[in-house]
Amino acid sequence: MDTRSELQATVNAMVQPGKGLLAADESGPTIAKRFKTIGLESTEENRRAYRNLLLTTPGLGEFVSGVILYEETLGQKADDGTPFPQVAAANGIVPGIKVDLGKVPLALAPGDEITEGLDGLAKRFADYKRQGARFAKWRAVYNITASLPSRVAIEANADSLARYAAISQEAGIVPIVEPEVLMDGDHTIERCAEVTEAVLHEVFDALHRHRVVLEHILLKPSMVLAGSEHRQPSSTADIAAATVRVLKRMVPSAVPGLVFLSGGQSPEEATANLDAMNRLGALPWNLSFSYGRALQEPPLQTWRGQPGNVKEAQQALLKRARLNGAAALGKYDAAMEKD
Ligand code: 13P
Repeated sequence: MDTRSELQATVNAMVQPGKGLLAADESGPTIAKRFKTIGLESTEENRRAYRNLLLTTPGLGEFVSGVILYEETLGQKADDGTPFPQVAAANGIVPGIKVDLGKVPLALAPGDEITEGLDGLAKRFADYKRQGARFAKWRAVYNITASLPSRVAIEANADSLARYAAISQEAGIVPIVEPEVLMDGDHTIERCAEVTEAVLHEVFDALHRHRVVLEHILLKPSMVLAGSEHRQPSSTADIAAATVRVLKRMVPSAVPGLVFLSGGQSPEEATANLDAMNRLGALPWNLSFSYGRALQEPPLQTWRGQPGNVKEAQQALLKRARLNGAAALGKYDAAMEKD
């Protein structure tokens, strides 16, 4: 298959009505932080056992079309010896890989951050592909204050995202482009909208300069909402309206799918907000989820590292996947939380 057909086939498999992505690509330090909340040590075997629980959840493929894995998980095996990428694929879930190497402070720009990982990326893609990965993810982060993010941070991160996306497409791997405007801070929803608009404008400018084919990317945006320390949390209706307004202004309709991150929202909030956006209707792209915490918190807290809790934890994951699948169609109802 030529590269373009390969990219199109992957997009078609990932962007499906009523389905979204499971972000299970926590890096070493991040998964250790998550495990700490259940008093579990982050050993290689515990990480494998947890990802085994997630990926072998019966019926997950009904609501989840893709899973983002961390490099270590891509090379690990399920309890029955099947490599995880194959386990996912057998359930109709496209395996993908987080390829950025995390963020560091941006030199000479206090408070701003830049994501690393471009050096040697083309070579790494060849290995990941051999292991079964068909799409990738790169996350840039933007902190909001009265003066941040700076112009230089917005431009530098846009350029890195675009270079990554170009290298990815050349390798026949669909890039998920993730510019995450963080929720931390006491800023207003209007300030978040202003920053998100500037960030997305720069990202699409850079993608164009780097000749990235928009039909063959997925955008992973953050929602537009007041900072987590703002005195008044944004309502679902305000989040939906502000987010869709910014996205309609900044994201070309050639992009086939937008899959939100949850960014620290509760599982119920993340589901309700996605649902409200889809109920607005007349959207040029498929609007769905690529949640990490909002999908995994309930199963993680149910599992607590105990083999005897695996089935119940899988039910908790399947429930959130099902409700988010409904939200991706604008058919979620809070009453469904009680089922
Ligand atoms: P959260 O949904 O927990 O924000 O994670 C999604 C993700 O992949 C962040 O990079």
